[in-house]
Amino acid sequence: MREDPFSLTGARVLVTGASSGLGRAIAIACARRGAIVVASGRDPARLAETRGTLAGDGHLAVTADLVEPDERERLVAACGSLNGVVHCAGISRLAPMRMIGAQHLSDVWKINYEAPMLLTQRILAKNQVAANGSILFLSSIAAFIGVAGVGVYSGTKAALIATMRCLAMEVVKRGIRVNCLAPALVETPLLAATETMVASMDQQRAAYPLGFGRPEDVANAAVFFLSDASRWITGTTLVMDGGLTIS
Ligand SMILES: NC(=O)c1ccc[n+]([C@@H]2O[C@H](COP(=O)([O-])OP(=O)(O)OC[C@H]3O[C@@H](n4cnc5c(N)ncnc54)[C@H](OP(=O)(O)O)[C@@H]3O)[C@@H](O)[C@H]2O)c1
Repeated sequence: MREDPFSLTGARVLVTGASSGLGRAIAIACARRGAIVVASGRDPARLAETRGTLAGDGHLAVTADLVEPDERERLVAACGSLNGVVHCAGISRLAPMRMIGAQHLSDVWKINYEAPMLLTQRILAKNQVAANGSILFLSSIAAFIGVAGVGVYSGTKAALIATMRCLAMEVVKRGIRVNCLAPALVETPLLAATETMVASMDQQRAAYPLGFGRPEDVANAAVFFLSDASRWITGTTLVMDGGLTIS
């Protein structure tokens, strides 16, 4: 056990979705705690911006569209041995059920569920997660509550939680832990995009006793789940919602 159980010094951590929002904040927080970060995203310029803000040396930026099998494979090859994996890449598309089509379902499912699962499969099959490593999925409070227009997204986020529990049982013999974070609304570009689709977020905002979250709030939780501080925790989902669901 490290002297500081929250330290990530020397740990190698893959963060997907690192070109924006929560992934970027998590990459920054991990580097600040001493991790070597493999940051992945699609947009090369924004990914380079993230890479430029990471403290310390040895970080990698790997551009990859994670719905493309070849690009996932290229990312896996670039990763080497990992102590932590944080699956942040994801999209939100709002539409009431009567308006969704197969394309909508497939678009959201492919990046929110298939991509993190198939990426995890490749990394595990190649034995790239070190013993006592930690895998973290970004689920959402949407997996637990009903919000009109969010059905497909919510389904993908609930599926992550269900699979995460089974995966946790499969890898526990190697001391690898698997958990989910389930944040409610956090101020990121994803939220800004949602805001353009609805008239106003004022009513939503008012329902949060502690207000909307900040990316750093989620990043601090990710550091906890990646570090030895959470060595006894696996198969869990941390709801972080500013008091939304108790109010
Ligand atoms: N913000 C919230 O309120 C909130 C709440 C609960 C859960 N979450 C979850 O947290 C995760 C991050 O959300 P965020 O708010 O940080 O969103 P964001 O700012 O929109 O960032 C999304 C990230 O996912 C990447 N991405 C999207 N499609 C991809 C693809 N096909 N291949 C590779 N990367 C792809 C984006 O890459 P490029 O930009 O480079 O294309 C970007 O880095 C998501 O899974 C989201 O569902 C967010």
